[in-house]
Amino acid sequence: MTLALSTAVPPSLLALREALGASAVLFGDEVPQRNRNDWSTQPPTRPLAVVRPVDAAGVAAALVACREARLPVVPQGGLTGLCGGARPEDGWVALSLERMVGIEEIDPASATMTVWAGTPLEVVQRAAAEAGFYFALDLGARGSCAIGGNLSTNAGGNRVIRYGMARELVLGLEVVLPDGTVMTSLNKMLKNNAGYDLKQLFIGSEGTLGVITRIVLRLHPQPGCTLSALCALPDYDGVVRLLGAARGGLGPLLSAFEVMWPDYWQVVTERVGVRDPLAGGAAHGHYVLVEVQGTDEAIDGPRFQRWLERQMEEGVLADAAVAQSMTDTQSFWALRDACAEFFPTLGAHVSYDIGLPVQSMDAYVRACKAALAARVPGCESVYYGHIGDGNLHLVAWVSGLSVEHQPKEAMDEVIYGLVREFGGTVSAEHGIGTAKKRWLGHARSPEEIALMKTLKAALDPTGLLNPGKVV
Ligand code: FAD
Ligand code: LAC
Ligand code: ZN
Repeated sequence: MTLALSTAVPPSLLALREALGASAVLFGDEVPQRNRNDWSTQPPTRPLAVVRPVDAAGVAAALVACREARLPVVPQGGLTGLCGGARPEDGWVALSLERMVGIEEIDPASATMTVWAGTPLEVVQRAAAEAGFYFALDLGARGSCAIGGNLSTNAGGNRVIRYGMARELVLGLEVVLPDGTVMTSLNKMLKNNAGYDLKQLFIGSEGTLGVITRIVLRLHPQPGCTLSALCALPDYDGVVRLLGAARGGLGPLLSAFEVMWPDYWQVVTERVGVRDPLAGGAAHGHYVLVEVQGTDEAIDGPRFQRWLERQMEEGVLADAAVAQSMTDTQSFWALRDACAEFFPTLGAHVSYDIGLPVQSMDAYVRACKAALAARVPGCESVYYGHIGDGNLHLVAWVSGLSVEHQPKEAMDEVIYGLVREFGGTVSAEHGIGTAKKRWLGHARSPEEIALMKTLKAALDPTGLLNPGKVV
């Protein structure tokens, strides 16, 4: 700790360092780079301190000390958030869950797993698999994001169509409230209607209402087989028909329905260099990755094959490649996951996450692409997403400009203005944080926003946790 900073550190934080130990509270220049920013492509900041407790009592002590010093606190998980929710402002205290890691218990009879909130998602998935279960949340940042961060953003990802968002995979929570109260509600029962379902307040509230410290997760049976096909379709009407046919014909086995527009396909196959299994050179109208998780390959394999043949016969599909192995399935997903590789290939860009009614999706894409090209000089854009969930991602950029110089304001105006016109939402799965706060009113009514503010004021009257974010 530098002398200059130590004089600026309030006594309650020095006492906290005494109580939790020197490695649990780092000041000023000691704060690691990783705790100064998230993935939202904003410049790093200079927090006053990072606190890294090992349990809920340590989190409570940190909140009480910061409240006494009137210092805002930002909870941090894996820092992969894309909206600035975990990014501290200069002079704030970062409260990192990075040392609250591990699996506390797996209960096979209840099919639950109790975990510490800082545990990386991939560790949770692996522990479930080793115990003969399946943890259904999955997203590209799985190696770095933490399960507490996933809940705080109510993350979606790849298998929402089958298992729901993070919210649907949680049965119990331990949360530390802004006044330091530890609320332990580690419920394991699927049904529990004893009063308000309080855990839902904290899921998706982006660290503004409480700090999640432990979680009871819902596990599912491990799929007996995973089958997938990469489909090419002539037009978006076909995509809507295919989705209906998949819901009807594959029923509850349908586990992913990911759509890629030809501009995305072209960037991924030609610039990122992912192999094109259809070898059609982005000539088709749309590309759809359909995945099924079955119980028995001998039964589900031929059934999936028959379903695909029927789509081909009915003219819904122009072409399709069917995975013959898990390696093929992984290579199909590589096309979809390649958006994580855009920085080295496209350079600086801005990434968006919006929701729209499925039927309007392609009309939005056409309108948006045209409006961006017309109103933001030099702007290019590509489109893809979890279309089975009504969730579109788009990436927009002006070549040759650095992150700070991308015309984000102008892009935001076009993209979110059209979202409002089409009756969509400015966030389907990434949250609001600071990046989209200005646009919340495009997706929520004044009455909804007023109630959000009432809840925030009731739980956090002094504005300790992530003040000014979300609402
Ligand atoms: P952080 O970034 O650390 O924090 C996110 C928010 O939660 C912040 O507001 C923070 O204050 C709060 N928070 C964190 N931990 C706690 C806690 N314990 N208690 C209270 N508040 C807390 N998201 C999707 O939904 N679907 C995707 O498919 C997807 N793909 C992605 C792919 C890549 C390559 C990347 C970089 C990101 C992707 N994301 C996706 C976004 C991001 O991974 C998710 O939002 C993730 O859930 C964030 O988890 P985290 O641990 O990194 O949270
Ligand atoms: C995805 C992230 C960006 O689905 O949410 O790739
Ligand atoms: Zn996504």
